[in-house]
This record gives sequence, structure tokens and C-alpha cells, in this order.
Amino acid sequence: MNMTPSPTQGAASRRRRPSTWCWVSLLAALLGLPVSNSGAAEVDPAEDSGILTPPAPATPRLQGPRVTGVRKGSPFLHRVPATGERPMTFSAVGLPAGLGLDPKTGIITGRVDQEGTSVVTLTAVNAQGRDSRTLRIVVGTTLALTPPMGWNSWYIHYDRVSDRIMREAADQMVATGMADYGYEYVNIDDCWMVKVDSKDPELGGEVRDADGRLRPNRRFPDMRAMTEYIHARGLKAGLYTSPGPKTCAGFAGSYGHEALDARTFADWGFDFLKYDWCSYTEKAGGKELEHMVKPYRLIWSELQKQSRDIVHNLCQYGMADVWTWGGTVGNCWRTTGDLGLENAGRLPAFYSIGLSNARHAEHAKPGGWNDPDYILIGWVGNAHKMGEGTRTTLTPLEQYSYMSMWSLMAAPLIFSGDMARLDAFTLNILCNHEVIDLNQDPLGRQARIVRKSEQELVMVKELEDGSRGIGLFNLGEAPASVKVSWAEAGLSGGRYAIRDVWRQKDLVESESGFESRIGRHGVRLVRVRAAGRP
Ligand code: GLA
Repeated sequence: MNMTPSPTQGAASRRRRPSTWCWVSLLAALLGLPVSNSGAAEVDPAEDSGILTPPAPATPRLQGPRVTGVRKGSPFLHRVPATGERPMTFSAVGLPAGLGLDPKTGIITGRVDQEGTSVVTLTAVNAQGRDSRTLRIVVGTTLALTPPMGWNSWYIHYDRVSDRIMREAADQMVATGMADYGYEYVNIDDCWMVKVDSKDPELGGEVRDADGRLRPNRRFPDMRAMTEYIHARGLKAGLYTSPGPKTCAGFAGSYGHEALDARTFADWGFDFLKYDWCSYTEKAGGKELEHMVKPYRLIWSELQKQSRDIVHNLCQYGMADVWTWGGTVGNCWRTTGDLGLENAGRLPAFYSIGLSNARHAEHAKPGGWNDPDYILIGWVGNAHKMGEGTRTTLTPLEQYSYMSMWSLMAAPLIFSGDMARLDAFTLNILCNHEVIDLNQDPLGRQARIVRKSEQELVMVKELEDGSRGIGLFNLGEAPASVKVSWAEAGLSGGRYAIRDVWRQKDLVESESGFESRIGRHGVRLVRVRAAGRP
């Protein structure tokens, strides 16, 4: 088994002043890095901040999903994710007839009238250099060929959400660079409609208009204009409703109006619908499987009739083993209760929710994903009180574990903290293109757990190119070593190269496996390839 040397470790410890040794040692212990006998931490200077993701180079780097699906005749919208100095010029070879690329923004739009797959070569050029890579555009019947990525308003804005907040979130997705990594959905959660029986002049009023159309509350004066604003930035817009008469927060739901509501959402220009069970219990008429599936099948069939693509996110907290049938009526399905309401035990809530979600790995596939809920880091509100935001109490190592787990599990990557208060550390967690590559891998496999005890967890994700994403997690309260053998990882005998995905650094090669010392609740995330392969 090999430890993980860092090429700069020696130099870093020589450069460090003695007065900083103490806190650096502490940081190294937190990060699970080796500490030398002299007490000097063997830690890369760039890691002093806790930030592991290297800054993106000035040269263009194309990233994000390698495959995307659209239905025949539906509007296509794809903002090519790329980092690097602007201005940048984009070009594409092999676009299917009907699609065009704006060379300045890298936004592809249009409609395709024929089913089929096109392998498009994208190129980005700036003053510093160029990059090319392929994107498969599959015109067919399946959406969400990779897990959806984006932002959702719930855990920071609750019933304060507004048109202004959603537009600002779209701007922030571009300005912070999140869109350059593939984040694209800007999703309103609950509380955009009229609140039933509310006296609040902004939230109350008639639930539907004279034609039965659902009315947004006064904070959303023009839904169509709002989605156009989001689309103009190359991003997509999502919203939320319930199959019941009321949403979980007591706003108007879609019960009895499903066909009209699906049409309204399409007319308004939405691309994503979260359909949250909430008050549907009173209408379900039973607890058998058929009662559980019925509302989701109904809205799914209505969504199929629309002339635009709407990704369907089931939210019913894992009832009736939704992972076994969610893929027949939707594109992703919540497998558990709300992460923000989960009581943290010894381990933070994302660990218990993640471990529940991990059990259903065999059901994830392109077009249908297990959804363990949102990424709650940065500034997030208290869900119990629908309160204002405060900084996450998760340690840096726990945040690396959270994002690593979600990536390995091919979970939708939906951030739900405050877009206006994204700091460098939070962005380093959300925007590491090699971590995101594990999540967006076109094979669409969810990691399986190969070992789990009170102290450790090992997850392995099979990737399209035959390599493996492997997460070694320390679930214990003190730094500890965690290992994996190639046999456990499903790799046949031979020599394998190990790459540290967070640090984007090649480590060592090994014929047997890998072992790393990891800090409390932390992770070592690696990608393992047959040695000698790119
Ligand atoms: C439920 C869902 C949450 C959120 C709220 C909104 O609790 O699980 O994700 O959408 O409803 O009321």
C-alpha cells in the first residue's frame, strides 16, 4: 500500500516560519496530511487556506457534461462550460441541423427535428491558448443524461423568494463562475404561488385566475419575463409544485389542475419541475404502490405533451421504494426526508442521508437518478424556522466529504445556500472540474459501498473509460488510515495510477491498492486508471 507524498511537501516545510508550525500542524491533521517528526507540517502552502482545488488556468478549459439529451422539436439550450480568460471565442463542428452556437457566449440554441446522436467537437480560444473536446447531443426521449446541476432557493430564501432573487441568482451563477463548471438550473422551490388563506398582501389573493390558471404571488410579476432573463444567460429555469391541494408550506398546489398547470409551466418557459408530495396524502386514497405512483405518472404524462423539455424531479421522501419505479415517471427522485431537517447524530446529517441514498445505487442510470437532496454549505438558513442564513457549521473536511459523496453517488448537484454570499472556500468545494467529472460521467453509475464500519467508508464508482472514482472516508473522531485494494475496487491485477482528484495531482502507482491517512470525518477522493493510460 502506498502513502501519498506531495512533491512540494519538503520545500513547504522548509519555507514555513516556526511560529506558524502549531496551527499548520493542526490544519494538516484536519486535512489528514502527514506531519513530520520535527512538528513541521508537510503541507502545500496553497492548502493553508483549506482550499484544495487549484485555480483554473488562464488558458481555455472546456468542462462540464460530455453528453446532453433533448427531445425532437424542443428548444435546445446549452451554455458550453469553460474556464479561462475572457474574451473567449467558441466554435463547434458537427452540430445537428437546427442548432447554432453564439461564438462570443458559447451558448448553443435551436431545435432539432430528427432523432439521433451527434458527436460535436467544441473549441474555445482565447489570447492564452485553446482547448477542444467533444459533446454528444442525443436527440431522443431521455432528458438528464447526466445528473442535473444547479441551484435551488429553498434553504436560504424559503417564503421570501422573489423574481428579483431568482434573477440575481442567475447573474451570480455566471459571475461566480459556477456556470463555467456546468451548473445551469436556477430553480424556485416552494412559495412562489399564492398562499392559501393568507392575509399577507404580497402572498395572499385568488389562487387561480378566471381560466383556472395558477397565479404566482405578487413577488413574481411576470414568470415568462423571468425565465427569458435566465435563458438569456444560457441557464435553465425550474419551479416547484405539489400534486396535493397545498404545498408543504401551505401555498396552492396542482391537485385537479395537473394538465393546465403543466401547460402553464411550459408556456412560462420552465425547464425543470420538482413535484412535492406534501398534502397529497389526503387525496391519495391509500398507501398501496398504485396510490403512490399515480400523481407522478399523471404529471409525467402531462409534461410529455409539452413542446419544451421539463426535467421531472420527484419529491416524496423515498416512500414505496421510489427508486424502483421513479425512473418510469421522472428523472430524479428524492430517496430520503429533508436533509435540512435531519437530526445530526455523531456524524453530520449529510452522512446519514448519503448513506441511506447509497443503498439504492443499482437503480441510478442516465435519465434517472437517486436524489439525496441539496448541497447545504456556505450560507444556509435554518430549515426548522425557515430562518435567515448563517455560515455552515460543517468543518472544511466535512464539506469535502459531502461533495465527494454526492459526486460519487451521481447525485443531482444542486446547491441551496446563498448565491450572494459565496466565498472562495465554498466555491472551491462546488467548482472542482475533476470532482464534477466523476459526478457527470456519461456511464451514469452510482458508486457502490465496498466497505462500511463505524470508523470508515469506502465507495467506488465505475467510470466510462474503465477507471474508478474512489472515496476513502474517515467516519471516526480522530485522524485514521483508510485503504482500498484493487480487488475491492473491481479492478483486475496490474499496475494502476492514482490521482488525487481534489488536489488535481498524480500521486503514485500501485499494484495492490491505496491507503491514506485522513482527518476526522474527512475524505481522500482519488481516480484510479490503468498505469500508462491518459
Ligand atoms: C418539502 C421538501 C423540501 C422543500 C419543502 C418546501 O419539505 O422536501 O425540499 O421543497 O417541502 O416546502
